[in-house]
Amino acid sequence: MASIQTPPPVAIKQAADAVFYRTLVQEHGSPLLVLNANVINNQYRALTAALPGVALYFAIKANPYPGVIQTLADIGCNFDIATSGEIKLLQAAKVESTRCIHTHPIKRDQDIRDALRFGCTTFVVDNLQEIEKFIPYRARVGLLLRVSFPNPASPVDLSKKFGCTPNQVDELVQRSQQHGLHIKGLSFHAGSQCLSPHNHLLAIESCAQLMADHNQRYERPMSILDIGGGFPVNYDVNAPAIDEFCRPLRKALAQLPPHFSVLAEPGRYLVAEAGTAICSIIGQAPRSNGQWYYLDNGVYDLFSGRIYDHAAYPITVFSGCSERQSATLAGPTCDSIDVIAEDIALPPLAIGDIVVGTMMGAYTNASATDFNLFPRAKVICTNIPA
Ligand SMILES: Cc1ncc(COP(=O)(O)O)c(C=O)c1O
Repeated sequence: MASIQTPPPVAIKQAADAVFYRTLVQEHGSPLLVLNANVINNQYRALTAALPGVALYFAIKANPYPGVIQTLADIGCNFDIATSGEIKLLQAAKVESTRCIHTHPIKRDQDIRDALRFGCTTFVVDNLQEIEKFIPYRARVGLLLRVSFPNPASPVDLSKKFGCTPNQVDELVQRSQQHGLHIKGLSFHAGSQCLSPHNHLLAIESCAQLMADHNQRYERPMSILDIGGGFPVNYDVNAPAIDEFCRPLRKALAQLPPHFSVLAEPGRYLVAEAGTAICSIIGQAPRSNGQWYYLDNGVYDLFSGRIYDHAAYPITVFSGCSERQSATLAGPTCDSIDVIAEDIALPPLAIGDIVVGTMMGAYTNASATDFNLFPRAKVICTNIPA
């Protein structure tokens, strides 16, 4: 698992290679997050090809930038919503409610009513009290029961916080039926940035068994399996290619009865690779552990995923100099946690030089803050040819 101490991979390119980024900064200013719509489209196509027959619902939390929503809406992607704020975003983009599911396992009544008013009728639950919140709306909703499959190997183990155990499924289904509520299927999240498909596979097989057992015993069948997100991208590690990652999943899903619908909620995979952060050095100082460079962006904005998402984004600097010195890249705020990379070998850099972070389209601007009231990076979504 990466941590804030894990140094990111660093590339040193020739000064002339910075021209493309400098041109963007001249036009839009620095700091800047460029989201490449062509890459988002390619990632959507690659995941669709790797999981044929699986309906993709983009987890908006990974990147709620309107241009991202529009790009994915235009290509036919569906949406996984978790809040009323995300519903507003979809309304602004004129996305039909029939293309949405609400996957937050814990909701206020107001959240349920906002989603129903929008027209979203599929919700995820994982405990009895949450199920009971739907009693007033039982004629209008279908529920998915989220099951937990812990994955301590994943940098973000989402089964720690949500999901009932497989042993609780039967009782929760029975209690739902007593309330006249229909559990239409099961869902899980195998952990984010999974480097192995093992936990997805285990969860698919276990859910398939639970659904088969259920369908033998009860009149109202389960027929939806939501396999969540967790599809990996390449930061500092060699994640398997998506087709390879999904190969065992395809095999397992092919064993499901033909009338089952399978959904997935990818976040990171669709957007991470599309994002490039362009920052500038605004100050520098020699310190006891080497040269410190202060950037106009840091862990309170685009690099927030260094902390929340444990991501080590690849960094590129530009210089023709062959000399290397121990260096630290820090963000602009007054907080000492605002450090992007420590003890990395860099050529001497100057105030005004460009520093680029790649693979920065997921859980970056999404978790940015206004700390210290530094202006957040401008975000643009554009088509850049590969
Ligand atoms: C319910 C749910 N679905 C999907 C996702 C997206 O996961 P990933 O970005 O790993 O694909 C998340 C991430 O937090 C989530 O909580």
